Amino acid sequence: VSGVRELAFDAAGLKVTWDDGLRRDFAAAWLRDNIAAARQGPHGQKQADIRDLPEPVALIQATLRDDGLIAVRFEDLDAVELYAPQWLRAPAGAVDLPSARPWDASLADGLPTESWSAIDAHDHTLARWLDQVVRYGFALARGVPTRPGSVFDVVARFGYVRETNYGRLFDVVSRDAPANLAYSPAALSLHTDNPYRDPVPTLQLLHCLTAGHAGGETVLADGIRVAEAFRKQHPEDFAQLANTPVRFRYVDKDVDLQCVAPMIQCDLDGAVRSLRYNQRSLAPLELPADRIAPFYRAYRRFSHALHREEALVSFTLTPGDLVILDNRRVLHGRRGTVEGHRHLQGCYADIDGLHSRLRRLRAAEHP
Ligand code: FE2
Repeated sequence: VSGVRELAFDAAGLKVTWDDGLRRDFAAAWLRDNIAAARQGPHGQKQADIRDLPEPVALIQATLRDDGLIAVRFEDLDAVELYAPQWLRAPAGAVDLPSARPWDASLADGLPTESWSAIDAHDHTLARWLDQVVRYGFALARGVPTRPGSVFDVVARFGYVRETNYGRLFDVVSRDAPANLAYSPAALSLHTDNPYRDPVPTLQLLHCLTAGHAGGETVLADGIRVAEAFRKQHPEDFAQLANTPVRFRYVDKDVDLQCVAPMIQCDLDGAVRSLRYNQRSLAPLELPADRIAPFYRAYRRFSHALHREEALVSFTLTPGDLVILDNRRVLHGRRGTVEGHRHLQGCYADIDGLHSRLRRLRAAEHP
């Protein structure tokens, strides 16, 4: 598509109607801020300073040229500015990320999974795998070599490790007398990792090197889907969790990490954007006494909603399996008591890098 059928203008802007009937208005200030010269900096970055934009911006002429371009004259500029109608239709570019697909227990029939050898060897498999992470908030890879540190090879396919005070890599080993609950063989309720950081690590990877001879199922829930359903069922409880900042904290001899934020975080449009949910790192509430009971009611109900069987998928990681998850959306936990020696290695990474990699892969597939 498609040429311009009709063009109209006044000082405040431009009205464009394309041959296929699409009609859009463009404000003069927007057009003036996006003149070609302003967009021609390195990496498409604007060179102009917003303080040089006149107030108000006035458009004095607009014509459709024989070559299909739209020529615009501004009051404060001598040169004629040209706009391609195709560019005006999609100024942000065509490559966008897939939207999230909410899921529940029925996803267990087809867990998003690819083999590591294919992810490693083929960009189209890598793109499909990253696409799954964006849609479902998690994905599995099979056959990642059970060498310590292999998880770094996986991260290197799409981005960078986020190092923390736990190191670049952390080991989750089931032993008999653990110092931290995560290292015990017992079950672990659903949580997001490190809610006491700001920003939180947005991606977690867990790679299985050794599986115990029994127990230790990994459990996941789509926290954003559960939260949206919870809002419909218990609006007051939802509001408690979305509007009450609480303190998360982790202290040891080296660090005192804290973040004050609501458990459910919403976008400007009100949609649930991310969760911070971790019973182990919630600090004592600092609320007036009369607000405690309603908060705990909401917190307990939400926890029941998250742990409901129809919200969960579970699977047993076997050696070479890796799970990557969006730590803002998908909660993880462990079910059953691990028997024998179990060794996982994990690390954190940033999801903006994964998004960037996916856009570049898609752009290469559809140049
Ligand atoms: Fe965790």
